[in-house]
Amino acid sequence: MHIPNVVQNKVPLLDLVAPHVELEQELTAAFRRALLTGSFVGGPVVEQFEESFATFCDVSHSIAVSSGTDALRFAIMVSGVQPGDVVLTVPNTFIATTEAISQAGAMPEFVDIDERTYNMSVAMLQQFLERQCARDNSGRLISLRSGRPVTAVVPVHLYGQMVDMDSILNLADQYGLTVIEDACQAHGAEYFSKKLNRWMKAGSMGQAAAFSFYPGKNLGACGEAGAVTTNDAALADKIRMLRDHGQVKKYYHDVEGYNGRLDAIQAGILHAKLAHLEKWNAQRRDRAAKYNEILAGIDSINLPHEPSWSNAVYHLYVIRTTDRDGLMSHLKEAGIGTGIHYPIPLHLQNAYTSLNYGPGDFPVAERAAAEIVSLPMFPQLTAEQQVTVANEILAFTSKISYKPADREHVSLVSARLSA
Ligand SMILES: Cc1ncc(COP(=O)(O)O)c(C=O)c1O
Repeated sequence: MHIPNVVQNKVPLLDLVAPHVELEQELTAAFRRALLTGSFVGGPVVEQFEESFATFCDVSHSIAVSSGTDALRFAIMVSGVQPGDVVLTVPNTFIATTEAISQAGAMPEFVDIDERTYNMSVAMLQQFLERQCARDNSGRLISLRSGRPVTAVVPVHLYGQMVDMDSILNLADQYGLTVIEDACQAHGAEYFSKKLNRWMKAGSMGQAAAFSFYPGKNLGACGEAGAVTTNDAALADKIRMLRDHGQVKKYYHDVEGYNGRLDAIQAGILHAKLAHLEKWNAQRRDRAAKYNEILAGIDSINLPHEPSWSNAVYHLYVIRTTDRDGLMSHLKEAGIGTGIHYPIPLHLQNAYTSLNYGPGDFPVAERAAAEIVSLPMFPQLTAEQQVTVANEILAFTSKISYKPADREHVSLVSARLSA
């Protein structure tokens, strides 16, 4: 079969073709099964995937829905957050996190991120709760900024790196907040809970969690898909109802719901791919370790920081440098794909002018947004491709003139490692 060469770069940021070619038979079988059974939305294939994903995440329930955004929205809606409440999250995340908060009827407010992990800063959350909130007469926690009750927090395990969940859960406990994890980039990541003295899977620690199976994710569908995970049976039932027009049985609607179901073709594809996820995550960790080795010690580059309590799954491998734009254009010229996740922190997006934040409100997130760059990262990335990336980064950072002809013969990485 002719496979179009959609990958233009020598080293793409992401390769969405290789895993699908590798699993072509399994994936087309999932499609064929749907055609031959006529079961397209919901049904046994969806239930089978839900069971296997719940087992993978170490939770009692997984509810498959149509996207990660819907997963987060439904999780927030059923978790006790009332219309008009404030839900806390970070400015350094994809806008779906705050869209889901708003679409659930609540309002996002932000706390800054940690300088090294780029995830929610526990110190900043604590500071917000202590200094920017007060109790009203009935004991509710009120945001001084908006005058609204603060009832939930959404930590985002961005880039496949874990948020410090023990500390977040402690603060949430102390202040009576619900915790909904945004695990949309963290399928299979683990957190070592000192409190429980064991490793915990992303998506198993909050009251509920949201996952996205957008194609480029560590576990990606061949279309749109998502899931909520939870250990709370009542909450799981409410989400099942919400995703399906609020019906408990066909045409009996207890509430108005949504068309938020997962289709059987995507469920079959996800079920087939889930069997490979641990291997793919291990390959991502291996590629991250290789980058760490060959890029170590370059003064102008900060590598990702993985705390000892985190077993990250490197959805993205994000480095930081002051001349980010210069580095990106150098890499582009050399045929290397890069990305910025994300270039404008959410509090400065046009969509949120009504929230009345401004430059300087979240300095750590703002500095990071100007300096971070994601390097090629996917399970099939080869050692040669990684050396190519590192050679170009070395050439750029050491201001060595590295001509196209040299690129075939001179390895700056080898010279550096053997020096
Ligand atoms: C952190 C984060 N939250 C939420 C989402 C939303 O997921 P989806 O695109 O499946 O709606 C994404 C996916 O892009 C994400 O990366």
